Amino acid sequence: MTHDLVIRNAHVVTCAGAGPSAKERLGIVPDGAIAIRGDRIAWIGADADRPRDAAREIDAGRRVVLPGLVDAHTHLVFAGTRIDELARKMAGEDYRAIAASGGGIAASVRATRAASEDELFARAKARALAMRACGTTTVEVKSGYGLDLATETRLLAVGRRLAREGVVSTTTTFLGAHAIPPERAGDREGYLRDVIDVMIPAIAEAKLADACDVYLDENAFTRDEAGRVLSAAKARGWLLKAHIGQFRDLGGAELLAELGALSGDHLEDVSDAGLRAMASAGVRAVLLPGAWRTLRQKAPDAARMRAHGVAMVVATDCNPGTSACVDLPLCAALAVRDAGLTLEEALLAITVEAAGALGLADRGRIAVGARADLACYDESDPRALAYALGGTRARWIALGGRVIED
Ligand code: NIG
Ligand code: FE
Repeated sequence: MTHDLVIRNAHVVTCAGAGPSAKERLGIVPDGAIAIRGDRIAWIGADADRPRDAAREIDAGRRVVLPGLVDAHTHLVFAGTRIDELARKMAGEDYRAIAASGGGIAASVRATRAASEDELFARAKARALAMRACGTTTVEVKSGYGLDLATETRLLAVGRRLAREGVVSTTTTFLGAHAIPPERAGDREGYLRDVIDVMIPAIAEAKLADACDVYLDENAFTRDEAGRVLSAAKARGWLLKAHIGQFRDLGGAELLAELGALSGDHLEDVSDAGLRAMASAGVRAVLLPGAWRTLRQKAPDAARMRAHGVAMVVATDCNPGTSACVDLPLCAALAVRDAGLTLEEALLAITVEAAGALGLADRGRIAVGARADLACYDESDPRALAYALGGTRARWIALGGRVIED
């Protein structure tokens, strides 16, 4: 069988290397080539040995070719901005105080409920295209700015439509337990029953979510409440994750380990016992530099996570309140500066480890059988992605074997 496409003369960073060190795991093939059939990688090896039967050949000009980047934590679908809140935050007002005064997530919920599906799609598509320009080919899309069945459904449907229309690949995550909606103020139990008894069954029936997330923190949901929501989602066969320890460690890491979750996200505050539990259950840590920067918090410590053997992921957390960011390479660069990831760890954190945080074994690495999602950069050293503080753009990407030059 012939190949559809060969990428030749490339500095291939497979992110599929063997070996204990991050450097070895980058698995670089310096004078490499990649052959693609359909939407899959069919062959990888030395340029000199490349198949000569392809319908099309692209000369990468010795540039870096990485797996398409994976953004494993975004709140991509929302309406409105919270620019005024940023001004208030910088003037010293606390994020939780702003939320308590009707701002925060509630402000985005008001704007999002008022927006049509087409309007939400157009806004989300613009953000996804900006992500793609940086080399991101898979985006996790959370709901959570609807907080009622109709709007949550609309947000997840937009997430699915982005993939259907070939903008980027997506996975969708139900985050109904993001906040208590205004109509349930003072009735936490009522809202939890909505989430568990109404929304999860309906969304499962419509097959609109791949995973479930909960905001487990002070002023959000308790460990107990999060356990109830995540257990209901688990019973539906969904993958699990949660926002934990953004402000205060409430034992979320241990809960996620018990439930067999894929990731715990944020982790500005986490105990050694929590990290141990995550490491032994294979729960990844998703680090979100845009959020700790916006909230002017101390970053998590990569050395601690490394010492405990917790795999690290970096994501944009793209959202209107705490991380107005679409730039995944910039987040990798910030994670290096603020949290102390090595440059190599940062590259793995936005590729193969990020795919792992979504339960996807078929991407985030360049290997035979994986999806042909690639990103080519005008660089000869892949560490440039985590070195440059913004401005990194892909020269071209391949999305399931389809080459796109933006
Ligand atoms: O990941 N922590 C909760 N969720 C978002 C922020 C949501 C918002 O402020 O709109 C986060 O930081
Ligand atoms: Fe988030």
